[in-house]
Amino acid sequence: MTAEGAVVELVERVRASATGPEPAALRAALERELGRLGRQVRAHPSRWGAWADGVDVVGTAYERLVKADQRRAAGQFQTPPWAAQLMATWLTEEPIELLLDPGVGSGRLLLAAAAQPRPPQRMLGLDSDPVALAMTRLNAKLRRLENLSLRCGDFLLDAVPAAPTAITANPPFSRHHAIPAPAKAAIHAGLEERGLKVSRLAPLHVLFLLRALDVVAEGGRLAVLTTSWWLDANYGRQIEHHVRNQARVDGLVFFDESHSFFAGAKTTALITLLTKGAKPAATAPAVQLGAELPAVSEVLRALCGRSTSLTVEEAELTEAR
Ligand SMILES: C[S@@+](CC[C@H](N)C(=O)[O-])C[C@H]1O[C@@H](n2cnc3c(N)ncnc32)[C@H](O)[C@@H]1O
Repeated sequence: MTAEGAVVELVERVRASATGPEPAALRAALERELGRLGRQVRAHPSRWGAWADGVDVVGTAYERLVKADQRRAAGQFQTPPWAAQLMATWLTEEPIELLLDPGVGSGRLLLAAAAQPRPPQRMLGLDSDPVALAMTRLNAKLRRLENLSLRCGDFLLDAVPAAPTAITANPPFSRHHAIPAPAKAAIHAGLEERGLKVSRLAPLHVLFLLRALDVVAEGGRLAVLTTSWWLDANYGRQIEHHVRNQARVDGLVFFDESHSFFAGAKTTALITLLTKGAKPAATAPAVQLGAELPAVSEVLRALCGRSTSLTVEEAELTEAR
């Protein structure tokens, strides 16, 4: 069976066993099906090639079952493989003791890191959605990953169970209106306790970036996927200033809207590569990508100053930029 065949089969089974077509019924049926598959994988671990050969069958099936507008509030758009590969390759250039994904989804970012030549020693995935955790659990089982722990919780509100030495994240792109008022008040109170007062207009993914910088160990690396529009917002200046004080910006990879980054969502996207506590630099290497993506290795070569066909801008990191 091909990976596409496995996706189609999983989608059909879930639809057939769901009590209705609404997202809650489909999600409940998917969770049951993932549990059933997990038991089969344990009993016959060698039969699952198509499910584990690099393609995220489970996450792809979820995105076919639950429509994009029904996933938007929780920002459930899995990272495209190209971006997951770039983030994992860059992060694992340095040894990683504990890699955290604070909104793990179906686990794509951690699976990409685990497949690198020097994978992290341990990995931790958090998510506020138990269905997301069930997807990652099955994906880990299919790939026989023993060093991955999962926790259900809110990354912006709950304590992180262990200090990560690196963070990989594709947080929900939701705007601030999507954050319920009590949660927003608690998130900002938490930031203020740690001396950081930021605008209530800051979207969820920017709050994730700030929290990630806060919890990662000194010297730790972060690869974070956000929109790029927050950089142009007025509230963005103070946040950028804070990020630059806390970390060195090792690279910025911009995607424009001509590249359809996430299926079903039109948006800009930016991968920011950071090292916490490293001496801040006045500039950062930045690459702007168009509709066609080059090889991941080309972009990484460009960011570290090696010769490539890509144009690299040394972006000035000043208040005005
Ligand atoms: C854009 S998806 C990313 C999934 C996966 N990391 C990937 O890159 O493919 C964001 C994930 O964050 C989860 N999430 C949303 N709000 C959260 C929160 N406050 N704390 C933890 N996870 C959250 C969503 O359920 C979703 O699975």
